Amino acid sequence: MESSYESFVKNTYPFPQAGLSLSEGQLCFQGIPLMDVVRRYGSPLKLTYLPLIADKIQAAQSFFNEAMFKEGYAGTYNYCYCLKSNFFVPVLQEVLKQGVGLETSSAFDVDLVFELLSRGLLSSDKPIIHNGYKTDAYLRKLIRLQELGVVKSYLILDSPEELHRFESLSPVGRQKSVRLGLRMATYEASGSPYYSSRLGFKPEDILPFFEKELAGKQHLRLEMLHFFVDSGIRDELHYWNEFNKALNLYIALKKKCPSLRALNIGGGFPIKHRLDFSYDFRQMTGKIVRAITAACRSASVSEPDIYTEFGSYTVGESGVAVFEVLEHKCQAKGEDWYILNNSLLNTLPDTWLMDEAFIVLPLNHWDRPPVRVYLGGLSCDQADYYRGGANGRGVFLPSWPVGQSEPLYLAFLHTAAYQDALGGYGGLQHCLIPSVQQIFVERGKRGAWEEVWVCPEQSMEQILPLLGGNLLNTRKRDISPQTRDR
Ligand SMILES: Cc1ncc(COP(=O)(O)O)c(C=O)c1O
Repeated sequence: MESSYESFVKNTYPFPQAGLSLSEGQLCFQGIPLMDVVRRYGSPLKLTYLPLIADKIQAAQSFFNEAMFKEGYAGTYNYCYCLKSNFFVPVLQEVLKQGVGLETSSAFDVDLVFELLSRGLLSSDKPIIHNGYKTDAYLRKLIRLQELGVVKSYLILDSPEELHRFESLSPVGRQKSVRLGLRMATYEASGSPYYSSRLGFKPEDILPFFEKELAGKQHLRLEMLHFFVDSGIRDELHYWNEFNKALNLYIALKKKCPSLRALNIGGGFPIKHRLDFSYDFRQMTGKIVRAITAACRSASVSEPDIYTEFGSYTVGESGVAVFEVLEHKCQAKGEDWYILNNSLLNTLPDTWLMDEAFIVLPLNHWDRPPVRVYLGGLSCDQADYYRGGANGRGVFLPSWPVGQSEPLYLAFLHTAAYQDALGGYGGLQHCLIPSVQQIFVERGKRGAWEEVWVCPEQSMEQILPLLGGNLLNTRKRDISPQTRDR
């Protein structure tokens, strides 16, 4: 076993690496010494480094545009951000500064779009892709968006019923045509508990649906074919099977539907969940663009505009969650636990929902020897723990610094996608543990970083009224902690 955590990491993984390094024996994330952040704000905390969002968007744009240029591709590349992955305004501002479009998944997302439009953060000429189940409320809001002059709002139909309800909700005598997309249901990768996605049309139903319900109707402009492989854009047989199914369907549909002009390949670019992560974005993008070009040219069909809706890829790597280790417990031989000062179940729900692996590194004490530990959350729940992802047998961290003045702090890295949306931010959480403070940072003018927005930890004054306390018609006695302690 290595004598120090630092030599263990350096001998086991490529380290330092982009965004992760050591400075004076302490962890830096995107050049930010995280211990400085802890000294200023305490822990637990979540930090989001906003400039990385722009870097990611620009990188994807250049991968696609370079590949298209090489092929002499006739269509365009269009980046849309999957709103549900992170709704915080500093994140949205950073995304929208890049001039990209959005993807919505519910009627409630569209309320956020109204807000962004009214504040001038989103301009009405950007593409907005509308996925998800279309309730009447959702459809009414899409009609309203059109009335507001949002010219590239795409209603992606999941079923014929959605079209029928949209037609019945549309004002009588409506002249404007609506831009439509059809979502092709994909099959799930092996290991999934179900075989077919409930989202979208079965591939074999798409052409008959077009001919029966859309062909010849000027006001229903079918422009986009959409598909999304939930397991991600991977250079694997499963992905290419679904991709080719969609591409062949696009070509068959294009031959019957001249207004069709876009292929939306959804989200699914991966992010770093391991220190030895490797993925060649340029190569994968090149393969996608070449496959579309070759198939379209051999069928004498013009190449579609390509749309993507990256969520994790856009924001995931910009976030880090920091916790303090409160205690080291050894319950059985080889089963050491570090107890953290927050709930993993509440704050990083994918550790529990999907057994997701995140990179976990210490902020300090890199000179101590490594030990393998499980990480336990603060809630009383047995499930509130982390073992390093599915089949993980614990994570390596520095041994507990007995007698040292500075406690051990840990960072869960690349946590900015979906965790707050799924775990809920604010409101009531398991064991009434408050939502952690959120710190959004930019590149600083003088130093490495400066705060754009700091949202403090949720307080009990915010939590208690949510319990309906104001409905309890009882006289309040003074049992503040000072009174009780006396
Ligand atoms: C339709 C659709 N598009 C895009 C995304 C974003 O996927 P990712 O975060 O993997 O990029 C999702 C995620 O569930 C989705 O359902």
